[in-house]
Amino acid sequence: MENHELVALAKTAMERAYAPYSKFQVGAALLAKDGRVFLGCNVENASFGATICAERTAATKAVSEGAREFEKIAIVAGSGDYAAPCGICRQFLYEFMPDGEVILDSDEEGMKVVRLNDFLPMGFRGEDIK
Ligand code: THU
Repeated sequence: MENHELVALAKTAMERAYAPYSKFQVGAALLAKDGRVFLGCNVENASFGATICAERTAATKAVSEGAREFEKIAIVAGSGDYAAPCGICRQFLYEFMPDGEVILDSDEEGMKVVRLNDFLPMGFRGEDIK
């Protein structure tokens, strides 16, 4: 799956964002190593802390469907600017794609690819629990 196709799918997912509080819509499209694609959007809540980001929606959908190894994830925001994943999402994704790629898109500047490792250097992994 090409990066631009994954970005297009992330934009479709973004249309389903439930963001009545922040009005900041986010969409994600995650490619698992088995070839399946999982989409996610942010799902906000009146109790703000219960909000789930688009990336974690996609990741939990993938894992709950049996996909535990991810190749890459595209993330887009309604603002049309690059939407870097939040800290919690970096850590969450690191569990399943430590060597994976994050594809970001900006209306003005186009796509860019960032390694998750660069977003989260020296990330914490299960192997570190001894
Ligand atoms: N959001 C995401 O979906 N992903 C991120 O990585 C950053 C933040 C959402 C959460 C909330 O619904 C809105 O963006 C504003 O923080």
